[in-house]
Formats: sequence, structure tokens, C-alpha cells
Amino acid sequence: MLRLYCLLILMLNLALPVLSVDTYSKEDFPPGFIFGAATSAYQVEGAAREDGRSPSVWDTFSRGGGDVAVDEYHKYKEDVQLMAETGLGAYRFSISWARLIPNGRGPVNPKGLRYYNNLINELISHGIQAHVLLYNYDHPQSLEDEYGGWLSRNIVRDFTAYADVCFREFGDRVSSWSTINEPNIFANGGYDQGVVPPGRCSYPFGLWNCSKGNSSTEPYLAAHNMLLAHASTVRLYKDRYQSKQNGVIGVTLYALWLVPLTNSTEDETAAQRAMDFLIGWFVNPLVFGDYPEVMKKNAGSRLPVLTDQESKLVKGAFDFLGLIHYTTVYIKDNSKILKTENRDFNADMAVTISFTQDEDDPFGLFPVEYPQRPWGLQGLLEYLKQAYGNPPVYIHENGQVSRRNSSLDDTSRVEYLHAYIGSLLDAIRNGSNTRGYFVWSFLDVFELLDGRGSSYGLYFVDLDDPSLRRLPKKSAHWYSHFLKGGRVSSSRTLELEKTFGDSSSETLVSIG
Ligand SMILES: *[C@@H]1O[C@H](CO)[C@@H](O)[C@H](O)[C@H]1NC(C)=O
Ligand SMILES: *[C@@H]1O[C@H](CO)[C@@H](O)[C@H](O)[C@H]1NC(C)=O
Ligand SMILES: *[C@@H]1O[C@H](CO)[C@@H](O)[C@H](O)[C@H]1NC(C)=O
Ligand SMILES: *[C@@H]1O[C@H](CO)[C@@H](O)[C@H](O)[C@H]1NC(C)=O
Ligand SMILES: *[C@@H]1O[C@H](CO)[C@@H](O)[C@H](O)[C@H]1NC(C)=O
Repeated sequence: MLRLYCLLILMLNLALPVLSVDTYSKEDFPPGFIFGAATSAYQVEGAAREDGRSPSVWDTFSRGGGDVAVDEYHKYKEDVQLMAETGLGAYRFSISWARLIPNGRGPVNPKGLRYYNNLINELISHGIQAHVLLYNYDHPQSLEDEYGGWLSRNIVRDFTAYADVCFREFGDRVSSWSTINEPNIFANGGYDQGVVPPGRCSYPFGLWNCSKGNSSTEPYLAAHNMLLAHASTVRLYKDRYQSKQNGVIGVTLYALWLVPLTNSTEDETAAQRAMDFLIGWFVNPLVFGDYPEVMKKNAGSRLPVLTDQESKLVKGAFDFLGLIHYTTVYIKDNSKILKTENRDFNADMAVTISFTQDEDDPFGLFPVEYPQRPWGLQGLLEYLKQAYGNPPVYIHENGQVSRRNSSLDDTSRVEYLHAYIGSLLDAIRNGSNTRGYFVWSFLDVFELLDGRGSSYGLYFVDLDDPSLRRLPKKSAHWYSHFLKGGRVSSSRTLELEKTFGDSSSETLVSIG
């Protein structure tokens, strides 16, 4: 393990920025490679109090901010039509546990069952694969009230039973299952910083004073139970469903690429340590059966121990790793913080993170746009290849954020997608085992961190229009051209600029 660790330190330096390929088409990707776009239940469905759905911890946290969202619950046919016109090969969406099993366990809600069956059938009949996520920050509030949600081992049993219903009812038509979305950021954001549901933290940690929580211990405990729930669910799928249903199953992690701020040994070690805390937290148990050594050392008894039995359950419990990748950040050593007694997950990681190479620039949570560093995607994929034996990967989210407004002229999103998909192609040509790519997001959704303040959508949703009509942005035209086999290049972006440059007018331009 120690030798491997030293090796990894060296490898972070291997991935040098490489200019990504500029001109390419879908045909350049391996046969069977799937392109799609993604959303999640609470962010699009709306109908939060309809047809027997119960509140989830996200409803509570956002005080009903997603009550309507973009009303996909009622508009799914229209949305699937739009997906088909755009040329999506797959749609990645999530199931709302609180809609399907309102009490968290026990009776299944027939109207919830009907909705997801309708959505899946609509997708399949349009030739679009269903890639389904089981969980995105949204367990039923009743389970939070009853036993503290992810802080209790009870959730392993209830989550697995919920997944069982999903496999049994929908699995014959689902190509790919992902268990838990970005558990690494969920555990940190929800139980240490308190910025996402269920909003727990303890003073002096967290961005504000939470009413409940313990930032020193809860992130590790919650993550441990997520890991066990994931593994138990994967075992269930593999034992009872996979041979008949022929889908694949994995977990989806938030994965920035991390670069040492300077060439100092301290910063290089710090970048590796951050990689172990952010990615290794889940991937080491899944690949090697245990948490990274540096986490055990720095978190001590606050990090739960994976028993031999748990280690066996977890090790190898995935067909693929899903990655959520938006940008690359710079890492600076902060190991002096390890001298303080009272630490949270972030202090244990002992680094500072910045979006720029300017050492004084703080980690901003809401950048107007992500720094475009497409080479970081290659770096990340090369790292997974070398450090973890090149597992199958899906890029489950990638896209550019912007302020949410009615401008359909999102040239910077087009440039971002063009550069990142090109970088992905380069990584694949160098041996990365990536099988699919999903743009976040198919349309403007209710965003996790700031609701309706920012957006990532290929389609704009007009919230001032009672029918919430969807309008294609320039990026929808660009992606559609690519998905239908067209070649893309920087000059193609310029062409689009000419054709749709002044498309901020509200005319509905049909795709294709
Ligand atoms: C948060 O709690 C701490 C300790 O109880 C207190 O000193 C501080 O003023 C509080 N901050 C806010 C913004 O309420
Ligand atoms: C967090 O839990 C640990 C271990 O039980 C305890 O020592 C510490 O005081 C707790 N912190 C808070 C803020 O409750
Ligand atoms: C790190 O080293 C590389 C190669 O030796 C050099 O090109 C680069 O400028 C150095 N970076 C910093 C931040 O010192
Ligand atoms: C809309 O968002 C874009 C991208 O963030 C920005 O450049 C533009 O100024 C915004 N327009 C308005 C009217 O806010
Ligand atoms: C390409 O793969 C080789 C072999 O795994 C590796 O040594 C090299 O660093 C990779 N190149 C890039 C640019 O990632």
C-alpha cells in the first residue's frame, strides 16, 4: 500500500496539459459509446405534493424551492420528444424515493410506479436508453425524522429494499443503474459544511450555523453507510437481476481534477492527499477493499473501520464508476492545520483549494463560469486508468454553468462542450475505458446550490411563461449537430455564432 502511494504521487505529475483534438465527430468514438444528457428528479419533476409523493430532505432544506421545478412530471412526453429531436442516445434521470415509496419503506405508491413506467416506456419507444440514478440528496424526510437518515445503519436495509422495487419494476428496460449521486460531495456538503441537504454542520465548521450536526464525525459516518448501502444494492442486483436484465450498475462520484499549486514536494503530496480524500474515499474501498491510508491516519477513530465482512461486500461492488467533472482546481498544502485538535473532514484533508493559480484566491462556490481546462478531464481519466486499473467509466455530468437568464446565446457553453468532448476523445485514444458521456443538464433545472440563480441547460425554460416552454440555446443546436453525426470544430462554432448569434429573441427554433 505504501509503495502504491508513492507511485501515485509521481503519477499526478505525469498528466501534462495536452491540446485536445479540435475537429472530430461521433464516429471517432468507439462503437457502442453512448452520448446523452442528464437531470434529476427533484430538479425537474415538480408535482412535489401530487399523487402521493411525500417530502424529501431536499424539500425541507430548500423550503419547497423545487415544488414546480420545470414540471417534467406533467411534461415528460414533450421533453422526451425534444430529446429525440436533439438526438440523445440516452437520458440520465433519477427516481424520487419519496414518490415511489412515500414512507421510505413499505407500500409502493401506484402513481409513482406509473409515472416512472410511463417515462421509461416513452424513452424506449423513442430509441433513447434509460440510465437511472436511484438517489440524489433526496431520501424521504420521514427516514431523517425516524433515525437520522444516512447517520443510521438502518438506511442500508431501507435503501436496498427501495432499490429492489426499482430493479423489479423497471429493470427490464434500464440499461444502467447508478446507486448514489456524488456521495463524496453529499457527505461533505450535507454533513460538514451544511450547504446541501440535509444541511447539518457544527460550529466552527460549516458556512453558517446549522441547527444540528457534528462536522467532525458525521461526514465519515454518513459516507460509510452510503458505501455499505451502495455495495448491498450492487450485490442484490448482481445476485438477482443482472443476468436477466443485462444492465450495469455503479456509483457516481464528484471528480474535480487536482493540480499542485507549485512544484514543491509539499504541494505535490497535498494534491495526492486531496485525491485520496475526495476520490479515494469511495474508490479505494471499491477497488482495494479499504479506505486510503492517509484518511485513516488523519481522521483516526472518526473514520469508521471497514470490517473484514464489510470490506468483502464493498470490494469489487461496481461495473463502472460514474464521474461528475466540471473543472480543474489548484491544491496547496495546509498540513499545519493537522496540529489543531478539533478538525472536520476538510481540515483532515489539510489542503487549500483554489480555482486560479493565484494563491490568495479563495474557493468560490458560485463561479459565474467554470474555468475551461479540458486537459483536466484527460488528467483525471489517466489517473483512474493508472491508479485503479482502468475501470469502465461514464462521464455522468459535464457542462458549463452560467447565470440563468433568457439569453439563448451560450457560445461559451458551446466552446466548453467542444473542448471537453475533444479532450475525452484524446483520453480514449490513449486507452481510457470511458463508455459514455452525459451533458449536465438537458434543460435548465432547479439547481442544488442556488435554485434558479444559475443554469447549465441545453434548453432554456421560460419560467415567466405559464406553460414553461423550452427553447433551444445555441448549445442545443451544437450538441444536436454532433449527435446526428456532424463534424464539429472551432470553425463550426463560429458558423453557429453567425446563424444563431442573435437568437436571444424568443422564437422557437426547431432542432435538426
Ligand atoms: C454561530 O455560533 C457561534 C457559537 O455559538 C457564535 O459565536 C456565532 O456568533 C454564530 N454565528 C452566527 C452567524 O450566528
Ligand atoms: C462530535 O462527536 C465527537 C465524538 O462523539 C465529540 O467528541 C464531539 O464533542 C462532537 N462535537 C460536537 C460539536 O457535538
Ligand atoms: C513546475 O516545473 C515545470 C517543469 O519543470 C515547469 O515548467 C513549471 O513552470 C513549474 N511550475 C511552477 C508553478 O513552478
Ligand atoms: C445572461 O448570462 C450571460 C452569461 O452568464 C451574461 O453574459 C449576460 O450578461 C446575462 N444577461 C443578463 C441580461 O443578465
Ligand atoms: C498515455 O498512456 C500512457 C500509458 O498508460 C501514459 O504513460 C501516458 O502518460 C499517457 N498520456 C497522457 C497524455 O495521458
